Order: sequence, then structure tokens, then C-alpha cells
Amino acid sequence: MCGIVGYLGPKKAKEVILEALKRLEYRGYDSAGVAIFTDGRIEVVKTKGKIARLEELLKERDLEGGLGIGHTRWATHGKPNDINAHPHRCGPIVIVHNGIIENYAELRRSLESEGIDFYSETDTEVVACLISKKYRGNLFEAVVEAVEELEGSYAIVALSEKEPGVMVAYRKDSPLVLGVGEEEYFVASDIPALLPYTNRVIPLEDGECALMTERGYEIYQGGGRVKAKKEPKFISWSPALAEKAGYKHFMQKEIFEQPRAVADTISSLFSPDDGSFGLFEEDFAQVIKDVKRIRLVACGTSYHACLVSRYWFDRFSKIPVEADIASEFRYRDISFGEGELCIFVSQSGETADTLAALRICKEAGCLTLGVCNVMESTIAREADSVVYTLAGPEIGVASTKAFTTQLVVLFLLSLYVGMTRGVITKEDIVQIAEPLVYIPGYIDEALRLDEQLKELARKFMKKEHFLYLGRYLNYPIALEGALKLKEISYIHAEGYAAGEMKHGPIALIDENMPVVVLAPKDKVYEKVKSNIEEVKARSGVVIAFTDRDNRELEGKCDYVFYLPKAKEYLTPFVYVVPLQLFAYHVAALKGCDVDQPRNLAKAVTVE
Ligand code: AGP
Repeated sequence: MCGIVGYLGPKKAKEVILEALKRLEYRGYDSAGVAIFTDGRIEVVKTKGKIARLEELLKERDLEGGLGIGHTRWATHGKPNDINAHPHRCGPIVIVHNGIIENYAELRRSLESEGIDFYSETDTEVVACLISKKYRGNLFEAVVEAVEELEGSYAIVALSEKEPGVMVAYRKDSPLVLGVGEEEYFVASDIPALLPYTNRVIPLEDGECALMTERGYEIYQGGGRVKAKKEPKFISWSPALAEKAGYKHFMQKEIFEQPRAVADTISSLFSPDDGSFGLFEEDFAQVIKDVKRIRLVACGTSYHACLVSRYWFDRFSKIPVEADIASEFRYRDISFGEGELCIFVSQSGETADTLAALRICKEAGCLTLGVCNVMESTIAREADSVVYTLAGPEIGVASTKAFTTQLVVLFLLSLYVGMTRGVITKEDIVQIAEPLVYIPGYIDEALRLDEQLKELARKFMKKEHFLYLGRYLNYPIALEGALKLKEISYIHAEGYAAGEMKHGPIALIDENMPVVVLAPKDKVYEKVKSNIEEVKARSGVVIAFTDRDNRELEGKCDYVFYLPKAKEYLTPFVYVVPLQLFAYHVAALKGCDVDQPRNLAKAVTVE
């Protein structure tokens, strides 16, 4: 949940690292710092607060060197302050770290008993001192020996004041990507940080150690003991894709990118005119027809996408299907059966709980599939197969375009599984999927509610509680709408199955409780209409979203917004959009940090 960077090359490391850190700030922004090799010394500059503050401090420092490391922090051990900010130094060693060292307390006690004093509360400083203790003039060796004593997750980049021109990076359970430029090398937690400098990347695997010098790079596997030959992969994302492009926030840009992102994802996976799928490599297609059960596992917004897809697997694949929150799934004592396909949905491809669940299912012999947005991410690489959403880099912490593109992949997957199981024919698929091509346009139409929703946000931004209600395919959309509002505006919001109102939540209803209701004219619409009446009978304030041609709710609700009428089974694509916009405007009007909400980070790579 932190962003770490390293640079070795002819450019000014300070400038490269600052630019790269800004592209990683969504991973954590409690504090930031750099360590630059200058005139034979490693100068460390670090501060509580965001990178902008660090940039101010660096203006006063003439750090010319071409080797350095940097860090933007999401605090785990030790509160956010100057002392706990990374990089951390011990003896000649200076490091930055992303992850959690689970045995840091006993390591610290052992090092203290050997006379080492600590200045910070962090687990990272313990790692620096462990490397320093092992150091006998060879940084690579010292890192490889030190990590053998670590338990937990860690991506580390290390320098030694005694070895100018040497940078060592090690990865276990926290993402780390090597970037290969023209006689220059980069390491970073995530690909967007590298894009201004190189598209040639080598994601490090667990237990891999990279040694970078002016002569080139070497990668060692097996805890850094076995030299490996790994060639860079080309990532087609451009730097511009990771820019705001005139929008006020990344989240706003990403909401408005959804028509294109959804269209790109559809066209990369499926051809509506003949129903052909470019979905899987042929060999994966062979095994999918023997699948007898589907398990969907994810966290947060990605979990909501899984919940929506359950209805599609029920209807189009006619297969037993479950959806689990990864942090719960991994602690169940599941009796896996034969022919289980486990699908792991993750924008970042690095979420610790989802990755842990993947490893459990692989261990149990299940077929595993990743649905990821970040190419070559850990989940993408460790699953048996992967399908990518083509949302492009999603920088805003609140996930939007990744969600709707996840829905595309899962919808098409449900049709594909149905076809391989002989439940539906290719002709059925053309007929079922044909309306999908209208979805980008429907999303575009829904985006035109932007100004109206901004006005609505202005009216409700001071409310302290919201209830979001939906049924059937839009129950998960109610959950998603509530999550969007709470995670960026810090207003308490709860998503609920509308049918559950009478089992508790109706007790909450009064004139201070705005209730957002998703009411497409589908097979449960009449039930939702009754729920609206129940809320109004208790003086609740109802904000309803319904189909453009349905005027029944006028006069029944306090606010009604009209959306394009999509096929019943495709309404989640459309109904989530106004909820994203509403949450965005409430947060922006409240002056919240929309792209970097407090306490959150884009990828939860720690448990
Ligand atoms: C979504 O807006 C949140 N930022 C969060 O719930 C996120 O969806 C969750 O952490 C899962 O992330 P992933 O898709 O990268 O695995």
C-alpha cells in the first residue's frame, strides 16, 4: 500500500524519482521521501505529508546524482511523521519498503540486544539494520541473506553508501516492476510510474532479486540464489493515459472514460455479429467445458462485480456459482469438488487477500482465472489464465471504469461458459449479447445527468447517512453506490437488498435519511415500487433512478432521474453511472481528496 521507486542512469535521479512518485501517490500519501547518491554520500530527504511537500524541500537541495530511491507511504507500523517516513538508513544501508514485516518486533529485539539503536517505529528500519548487520561490502549478498530472516510481505529497494552505482531490489508478496531503459534502470511498485521513461518492463516474481549497475541488470530467483534470464515485456499504455487530461480529478476522468473503456473491452473479447469470442486461448477453452462449479472471489468494488455476475451465471451458464469476499473466503474450510473454476477479479491484480485466495484454490487443484486490469500483475501471472479488462490505468482510488469493464468480462464469460456447456447456442449468444453494443452509448447518455447530479449533491452533501436500495441485478449496484459515496465523501452510506427493508433497515427511515432507490422496470420493479411507498410512508426522502419511459414514480419520489432503457440483464452497466457521479460531486463539493481519500490506497497489498 505504499509506492516505492528506484532509478539508476544518466538522468538526475531526484527528478525521475519525484515524477515517478507522483504517479504512485494513489498508493499512499501519508509521507514521502527520497535518498540520492550525491558526491559519494547518500542524502536522505523525507517529510510527513504529500509529495508536493517533499518537492518543496528538494528545491533547496542540490542533489545531482544519477542513483536514488524514493517512497510515498501508507502508514502501517508507526504513525505518519517525518521520523517514520521512508527511506530508512542503518549504517551504510538505505532502503525503501512496501509491505508488512510480521516478525519485525522479535527482529528488533534481537538487534537491540546486539547494541543497535532504532530511531523510528517502523518495521522498515528493522530491515535496513538487518541488511546492515549482514553487510560485508556486497549489497546484493547482504539483501539476499537478510530477507531469509523476514516473515511477511515486502518489496524492497536498497542502496549502500559503500557501493555507488549499485541498486538491489527484492520482491515477496508486494508488487515490484523492473523498467529497462537505454542504459538506465528503474524499479517501481506499479507500471504507471515507469511509463514516461520506458514501456519495457519485467515484473518481479516472489523470491526474485534484481541487481542493477551501470553494466546492466541481473535477476536471481529462488531467494536470489539462481540466476534467471528474463526479457522485458512491452506494455502498450502511454503516459498520457495516466494523466488527468483536463479533468479536475482522475476519478472524474475515469468515470467519463467508461464508454470507451467498455467498448474497448467488448471489442477485444467478443464479436457481436457472429458471436465469436477472442476470450480465451484455445487450451483454456478446452478445460472450461468440464467445469461444474464457479467460485468468484474478490474485494470491494471487484466483489460487487462478482455479485452482479452471479445472476448471469445462473441465467446463461446454468451452473452452481458462489461469490465470496476474499478476506472471508481464505479462512473458510471449503470442501472443493471436481471441476471447480475459481475466478479472481482484481483491478490491480495485487490485492493481498484475493491473491491469497488464488493460492489456496491453486493448492486445491482448482482451475483458476484472473480478471485483471493491470497487465503482468501478480494475480494475472499466477492464475492458470487471465482475461484483461481494457480500462487503461485507473489512478483514482475509487474504482469506476475498472468496475464496468469487469462487468463486461464476467457477462461474456457467463455466455462463454453457457455455450461450452451446451446450455446456450451460438445463435442464442448473438441474440443475448447483441444489446451489449448499445451499452457504451447508454453509459454516455447516463453521463449527461452530470449537472443534475451535481445539483443533487449540493442539496444532500451535508447529510450524515444514506441508504441505497436495489433488488436482483441491482442489489450489488446499491452496494457499489454506497461504497463510492462513503469511500470518497466519508459520509456513512449503506447498500441493502430492498427486500430486506422490513427485516431491519426500515427502522432507520425518517426525514433525515435520504434513500437512493434503483428501479429499472424489470421483473422485480413492482416490489421495488412497494419499497418506495414504505419509505415514503415513514417520511423518508426518496431519490429514484428508473427507465426513461417510466413515469410512474413521478409524485411518489422526491427526486426521479431517468436512464436509458437497457435490457433487464444489462441494467447494472447503466444504473451504476449516476451513483458514481453523485458520489464524486458530493466529495468534490465537500472539498474531500477525491483521488486520494483518507486512510485508503489504490491497491490493498497488505492484509
Ligand atoms: C473500490 O472503489 C475500492 N477502492 C476498493 O474496494 C477496491 O475495489 C478493492 O480494494 C479491490 O481492489 P482490486 O480490484 O485492485 O483487487
